[in-house]
This record gives sequence, C-alpha cells and structure tokens, in this order.
Amino acid sequence: METPAMLQLLNDPMGVPFYPVVFQVLMVLTFALHILFVNLSLGATCLTVIGRLKGGERWTRLAGGMGQAATASVSGAILLGVAPLLFVQVIYDPFWYASSNLSAAWAIGFIFILMAGYASLYLARDRKGDAGSAFAGFSLAMFLTAGFIMHVLGFQLLQPEKWLGWYTSHGAASTAGTVLHDFSVPRFLHFVVPAFAVTGVFLMLYSWYFRARADADAAYLDWAGRIGAKMAFHATTIEVLTGLLWLIVLPRDLRFHAHPLFALGAALGLGLLAFLYHAQDRETGHHRYAWPAAAAMLAAVLEMAAAREALRVRYLARFGYAIADHRLNIDWGSTSLFFVTFVLCLVVLAWILAVAFRSGRVAGRWEAGPGMKAWGKASIALLVSWLVVVAGLGVAITLRNRGL
Ligand code: HEM
Repeated sequence: METPAMLQLLNDPMGVPFYPVVFQVLMVLTFALHILFVNLSLGATCLTVIGRLKGGERWTRLAGGMGQAATASVSGAILLGVAPLLFVQVIYDPFWYASSNLSAAWAIGFIFILMAGYASLYLARDRKGDAGSAFAGFSLAMFLTAGFIMHVLGFQLLQPEKWLGWYTSHGAASTAGTVLHDFSVPRFLHFVVPAFAVTGVFLMLYSWYFRARADADAAYLDWAGRIGAKMAFHATTIEVLTGLLWLIVLPRDLRFHAHPLFALGAALGLGLLAFLYHAQDRETGHHRYAWPAAAAMLAAVLEMAAAREALRVRYLARFGYAIADHRLNIDWGSTSLFFVTFVLCLVVLAWILAVAFRSGRVAGRWEAGPGMKAWGKASIALLVSWLVVVAGLGVAITLRNRGL
C-alpha cells in the first residue's frame, strides 16, 4: 500500500472536535513553554551537579538554589508537556500512535525514567557533597534519556515511508517495541543545548529578583548574574551552530532554508546573541539586562516552536497530509468546557505564581494583602465550581447513557 493511502486509513474516522488550526496554534504555544521548562530543568540540574562538585561557599549556595529551581521546573515541564501531547494526538494521530507503537517499550519506559530522575532530584536536594552530586548526576542522565525518547518519537513520526521497514526489519513483524529506530543528533542538540542559555538568563533574573530583599548579598548576586550572562551568551553561540548543522542535514527537497519562518528564526536568534554579547561584556550589573534578555529569549523560542511546526508541515506534505483535511465534527460542548478550563487554570496559576513571587522577595514572613486574599478565595471558588460542573456532567452523561 502507498504511504498516503495508509495515512488516510490510519486517520480517526470520528474527525476532530474543532478547527485543527486552533489546536495547532495551542500546540506550538504550549510546546514553546514546555521546552523552556525542559531547558531550565536540564540546566539547573547540571548546575546542581557542578556546584556540588566545586564546593566552596558560593557554589554550594548556588547548587542549593538550582536544586530547588530544578524540582519546580521539572513539574512545569511535565505539566506543559501534557498539553502538546494531547494536541499532537488530535491533529497528528496516525503519526504519533504509529511512532509510539514502533518504540512502545520506550514510550512506556519514559514515565518510569522520568519518575526515577525526579525522585533522585529530591534525594540530591537533601544531601551535600559527593552523594548530592551523584543523585543530581543520575537525575540529569534520566532527564536527558527522557528527552531523547521524546525526540525519537517526534522524529520517527516524520518518516512514515520507513515505518514498514522498521516494523519488519528482521524478516518478520516485530511487535516488541524495544527499538529506537531513528534520531537526529543536530536536532536533539538544538533542543538541549539551550539548557545553558535558558538557565543563564534565569540566573540573571535570580540576581535581579533577590536584590530586592533586605538580607540580599549583593556580591553573591553579582557573581551569579555574571556567570548567568556569560553562560547564556556562550550557549546561544553554540545553539546557532547546532541550528546550522540541523539545516544542513535536513532533506534537500524540504527547501526549509527558503521558508520565511526559518529566516525570522535566524534573525531573532542572531539578535538575541548580539544582545547577550552586550549584556555579558561587563564586570557587574548583569541583572539590569535580565528582563530584556528574557523577553528576547521568549520571542526566539516561540518563533522556533512555530518554525519546528512549519518544518513538520513540510515533511508531511510530501505524503499529501494536511491537518486542514481532517473531518470536522464540531462539538461545542467539549470545546467550551476545554476553553473555560483553560481560562480558569490561567487565573488560578497566576495566583500561585503571584504568591510565590511576592513571598520570596521578603526576608521574613510574608503577609498577603486584602487583594491577594480575595484573589486566593476566588481561585478556590473557581476550582470547586469546576469540580462540581465536571463531576456533575460525568454523572449526568453516565446516567443518560444507561437510559436512567
Ligand atoms: C525532563 C523531562 C523531559 C525532557 C528533557 C523533554 C524533552 C523534550 C525535547 C528535547 C523535545 C523535542 C524533541 C524534538 O522535537 O526533536 C520534546 C518534545 C515533546 N515533549 Fe518533552 N521532555 C520531557 C518531559 C515531557 C513530558 C513529561 C511530556 C508529556 C507528558 C512531554 C511531552 C512532549 C511532547 C508532546 C513533545 C512534542 C512532540 C512533537 O510535537 O512531536 N515531555 N521534549
């Protein structure tokens, strides 16, 4: 059977519940946030290892802070990984499921690998010296393995013409799913090298944030800001090179170098590099560049996520696949519930972030003002109402389906 015909057959006959382009935009947006948290997790875990190994007052203190940042950012990476996972399954269902089945043992093992890495990170936080660095090093290895699995699943997905060969590679159908069939070193590097760029900018923000506290140690914060700015600059330089390498190994017929999103990505990347060069080229005061650097980095990552999606569209167009061809089966009920949940989560999440931001900036105990208290109560009320509505809907639909 020809590949386009096979893809048609694998498509979900139920179609999609809303316009596919909406899912595509949300997928790009949530993937950009996912990869930012992934990079912060990798970079902060790596600095925990380095800080523990180097020892000394400043490095030990930095390793402690980075250990805390890593545990929080891994949970962010997981939370923000689920969203693109759901969207990719809606609009690229034949591809995602085929790729995951071809390496099913790894797709399932991914969860356990991630759990082992996350647990080890907590063990690292409570231990000093070599034991702390060993646990953090193990976490780093597990996170990199988890990222590599995601990379392979996302890369195999792009090559449906090879699926049959992989499935029957030993002369018979192989259903074990224990093989990772294909990967691209430049592509993987392009998604993990930014760990040091993102964590570098995070350190500049760290240097800015803690400066406001009455007990701030300005010399330590200057040192952390300097390390961050230099790290961000050097990692972004390497990132530009991995991007070029990735472009060179892409199949010629995709002509991605001529895509406008590639040109825009290159311009934003080089702009960020120039700004980081300027920010790191001084002895102190790197924290003053923290917010513009963070904004430039966010713009570059958002654009890169859009370019990555544009590349996937080109890959799959070779097989006549376009997400716009999905059968549209609009379901206003589930779509409205989805968007209401989305907005509600933003309100609640913003409150949690505001509490964390304000409480960390005072030296002693933080007292919430009346505005924050009202926002907190409203958030809890929203969550309770949401639970009641969702559970009520579930019960009502179950009863109706049973004819009661
Ligand atoms: C520390 C843990 C993780 C790391 C290091 C990691 C790393 C990565 C990397 C490097 C990519 C890009 C791969 C590529 O395009 O070549 C990626 C994509 C992705 N990750 Fe993660 N990830 C982690 C956790 C998770 C979790 C927990 C989920 C879901 C629950 C998830 C869902 C996804 C999805 C859906 C994609 C995009 C797939 C696609 O669009 O083809 N990730 N991840």
